[in-house]
Amino acid sequence: MKASVTAHREYTISKIDARVYGAFLEHLGRAIYTGIYEPDHPSADANGMRGDVAGLVRDLKVPIVRYPGGNFVSAYNWEDGVGPREQRPTRLDLAWHTSDSNAVGVHEFADWCRSVDAEMMLAINLGSRGLDDARKFVEYVNGPTGSYWGDLRKKNGHAQPFGVKHWCLGNEMDGPWQIGHKTAHEYGRLANEVAKTLRAFDKSLELIVCGSSNSDMKTYPEWERVVLEHTYDAVDHISLHMYFANRAKNTANYLALNEKLDAYIGAIASTIEFVRASKRSRKKVTISFDEWNVWYHSNAQDREILGGNKGWPHAPRLLEDIYNFEDVLQVGCILNTFIRRSDVVKIACIAQLVNVIAPIMTEPKGAAWRQTIFYPYYFASVFGRGAALQLAVKSPGYDADVADNVPYLDISGVHDEEAGTLTFFAVNRHGAETLDLAVALQGFGNATLIDHQAMTHANLEAANTLKDMHAVGPTKGSGAAVVDGALNAKLPPYSYQMYRLSVTET
Ligand code: AHR
Repeated sequence: MKASVTAHREYTISKIDARVYGAFLEHLGRAIYTGIYEPDHPSADANGMRGDVAGLVRDLKVPIVRYPGGNFVSAYNWEDGVGPREQRPTRLDLAWHTSDSNAVGVHEFADWCRSVDAEMMLAINLGSRGLDDARKFVEYVNGPTGSYWGDLRKKNGHAQPFGVKHWCLGNEMDGPWQIGHKTAHEYGRLANEVAKTLRAFDKSLELIVCGSSNSDMKTYPEWERVVLEHTYDAVDHISLHMYFANRAKNTANYLALNEKLDAYIGAIASTIEFVRASKRSRKKVTISFDEWNVWYHSNAQDREILGGNKGWPHAPRLLEDIYNFEDVLQVGCILNTFIRRSDVVKIACIAQLVNVIAPIMTEPKGAAWRQTIFYPYYFASVFGRGAALQLAVKSPGYDADVADNVPYLDISGVHDEEAGTLTFFAVNRHGAETLDLAVALQGFGNATLIDHQAMTHANLEAANTLKDMHAVGPTKGSGAAVVDGALNAKLPPYSYQMYRLSVTET
């Protein structure tokens, strides 16, 4: 099977915003406790944060981390997580039927973010709480000393404002499961008033309003239209979420799901344009895709805890999906979609980062390791920075549940002019045939292949576990070459590849 691609230096989509390689950490299961924080762990630092986990997060070059939820945030009192640890209350978490000691709060999270070189993106509770608490939280985090909340922060050990720029105005407020769920009108009005108030404190904040929890919601995409009509002038981004699953064990349909993601982004980009036009506005609201990942492997084992049959455990094993090789291909396709839609998707967060539907797993008192999906996320985050290229792709395709003529080749291209590199991330969605790929390189001068990483596996279900942490991983690829201004390569069936070229500009 043959596929051809043309990459031209001048045909770009957008500069990729580094924030699309962001991540998410919620007070859920073992994401925080025995995830990033485990004071008894041999690698723990003076703050009780696991050094092995922080090291893996640093490897991923995660630019921004959303916190503390998720569904959790909709009944969260941020005050519970500040001040002397021994005085912090243990609270019931109604979203996940667990309890939370509050040993980690905004100060500890801020220290951890600094240690992994990531920015904070904080979510505000607009479920059980409202405008006044939002204002107090933002003033506590960012306000000057000499004012009530800034002085309290100083008393709690941090005189300097944390300077958090990104604020999510609630979480999934369209979802009937959400504590404090609202209609689009109720939420839109509240979010607008909160945004106005936060802007009165600091005009430069980046505010993210809730869009749909997924594109199967009955209220989608009317929700976005109504919410944006209320908030357009006051917010910067609209948040979207999507999780991917292969419950039917149909790989072809599963690997086509990023077509649905692409349609979802396209529909909301159009909705943004509709509202913008109706408001005669010059301002461009963009998309913050702040929860995305594969999530289904752990559903059955979670039912007991979520159903309340285990009481209120602290940091139990919840949403601990063990990812397989098939999920590498899926995550590769998802990230390609974000690169291709970098004109409108300016923030995206893999959900989540540690233990809970995450690329990094830990064992309490034991090892930390890379799940299979760590690798496509790593390659995109580390090497996918620059300008996204508008590739012309010719590939045979197949009909799937969500779309017709889904190309067997899923590819994105990134040109980093400063570094003089050109990088392609490619997935062969065909399970039996090798893809003969020819990428015509136009306007890049001399090109030399400097790296080729490949992920293939005979078993789609192969996974990295505590017992075998290296069952799935990248290997140095072979056989690719630049000949007469074209990159020629063979992509084995069901494979993920990254090709990096050094280019001399013309
Ligand atoms: O990431 C897990 C959960 O998925 C989040 O808490 C919620 O926002 C979404 O439904």
